[in-house]
Amino acid sequence: MLMTETQTHTLIDGRKISIDIKKEIAEKVALRKQADKKLPHLAIILVGDDGASQTYVDFKVKACKEVGFHYTMMRFADTISEDKLMKHIDQVNRDEDVDGFIVQLPLPEHISVEKITEKIRPDKDVDGFTNRNFGSIVSKNPLLLPATPFGVMELLKRYQIPTEGKNCVVVGASRLVGAPLSMMLVEEGRATVTICHKYTKDLATFTRQADILVVAVGKPGIITADMVKEGAVVIDVGTTRVEGAQYKNGYTLKGDVDFKEVAPKTSFITPVPGGVGPMTIASLLLNTLRAAELRNP
Ligand code: GUN
Repeated sequence: MLMTETQTHTLIDGRKISIDIKKEIAEKVALRKQADKKLPHLAIILVGDDGASQTYVDFKVKACKEVGFHYTMMRFADTISEDKLMKHIDQVNRDEDVDGFIVQLPLPEHISVEKITEKIRPDKDVDGFTNRNFGSIVSKNPLLLPATPFGVMELLKRYQIPTEGKNCVVVGASRLVGAPLSMMLVEEGRATVTICHKYTKDLATFTRQADILVVAVGKPGIITADMVKEGAVVIDVGTTRVEGAQYKNGYTLKGDVDFKEVAPKTSFITPVPGGVGPMTIASLLLNTLRAAELRNP
């Protein structure tokens, strides 16, 4: 008789880990306060009135308050010109009181994300989006690591999931998640990494080889149980808003992994929501603290 093995899987609780990290940061902020040192200051630029962006920014402001950071919210209408936005970024770049800042994405279509991102001073780029910080992944002393990949690495570390010599498959080669995370898994994680993307033929052939499978494409349910090796670690970075009258608030967040079907096969898996999502904000706070410490030790 053919037996199908059912793993007992551990949920990777990003919400809990992010709370732990916030506590650690709050303690460091309290120490800076005691020593009469400048408190970390995060500025947030929000263009337009996209509902999802507003929600994310509200979470970031709330997180700043929780750890005792100063923050500044800067809002602009979605009609702002690229030139004008560049001038505002220049201003924040030169503002001695601001340690780190982010420009919430997406931006209106008439504004180039790359141009705006590259305008941010790398030592204030707490999202870790600039080319300088992307490249810094392969340096001995990275400046500010890309926030979401940093959060994934932190989850693996805090759950003591070994990466050295492991077969990691990253699905999604985006500039903000898949590409930097793959390099971090190689550099810091010493893993063997395969990057799959939309041109990959027969995706399942690759994903089935993964000891650690990371998915960051934004297509709900793209990873099904037959694509996952028994006992694999599965990290789901996908967070797609799916609308429906049956959901509170009119929408729900869905990951790229068919969680119900895949979870029983895994050893560890991140839920959506509550997995990688909260870690992006935790990393943003860690980066802001680091930027502040570098500027004012
Ligand atoms: N939009 C969605 N996620 C992010 C993020 O992590 N940073 C910024 N700046 N914009 C986003």
